[in-house]
Amino acid sequence: MGELLETGAKACPPWAATVLTLFPDMFPGPLGYSLIGRALQNEIWRLKTLDFRAFASDKHRSVDDTPSGGGPGLVLRADIAAAAIDQAKAWSAAELGEARAAAVPVLFLSPRGRPLTQAWARDLAAGPGVILGCGRFEGVDQRALDGRGVQEISVGDAVYTGGEIPAMAILDAVVRLLPGVIGDPKSLDEESFSAGLLEHPQYTRPAVWEGRETPEVLLSGNHANIAAWRRAQAELVTKERRPDLWRAHEARKEQSDGNKDAPTEAREE
Ligand SMILES: C[S@@+](CC[C@H](N)C(=O)[O-])C[C@H]1O[C@@H](n2cnc3c(N)ncnc32)[C@H](O)[C@@H]1O
Repeated sequence: MGELLETGAKACPPWAATVLTLFPDMFPGPLGYSLIGRALQNEIWRLKTLDFRAFASDKHRSVDDTPSGGGPGLVLRADIAAAAIDQAKAWSAAELGEARAAAVPVLFLSPRGRPLTQAWARDLAAGPGVILGCGRFEGVDQRALDGRGVQEISVGDAVYTGGEIPAMAILDAVVRLLPGVIGDPKSLDEESFSAGLLEHPQYTRPAVWEGRETPEVLLSGNHANIAAWRRAQAELVTKERRPDLWRAHEARKEQSDGNKDAPTEAREE
């Protein structure tokens, strides 16, 4: 039925990812490389895939049908999607126990979903794992999503051929946040989105390249000045490139300044 890529029968089970897909052989793919791949080998996380076709009952192993109401393409059938979700939930319960398994979100990849953010990635990393359903063609019958309480998740406002590459992107973003995956966790605090801003520009040696100089402050050794320069650059680049993030950042600042100015009783409300 599914392929167990890493087992996790431990007192403290690894963060558990289960991917429902028509193309299980695509995994781990890029997730088998570098820090994320090493974390998979070291059982910081585990990855199982579940093939939708395992739930087909006819000799052609069909899992989809034409869209109700007409139109091009094919839709993953509700009975197939629901059976795969139920199987993935049963695996979670066997592995993590009923209570922890109940905290494993079931998400379906979709351009119509709520966009992934760093805050959502952090929430997912703080939980016991995730079940990710990958669509193909026109997507999945809505009744399976409604019937199983599935939330849709998007990786941005563009349409991909299938959910597998978006699922890999999500797993990469989440797994790198798990304790022990990144050597120096301080780098997670300073990167884009961690404080609601994009990151400042980065430089390395040599100090001059093709006549272009590294900003002098970065070579000064004055840590306070470097931190102030980086902060100012982060604000500038966020304001220029992502007015949406900048507005949210300013609103948060105003709110926290307001809270500081408010009398103690008002602050505690
Ligand atoms: C060709 S797309 C289906 C697009 C769908 N008919 C629509 O217009 O919203 C096939 C599958 O790729 C995945 N997919 C495509 N774009 C995505 C995105 N931006 N975020 C997450 N998943 C995406 C979804 O699983 C989707 O079911």
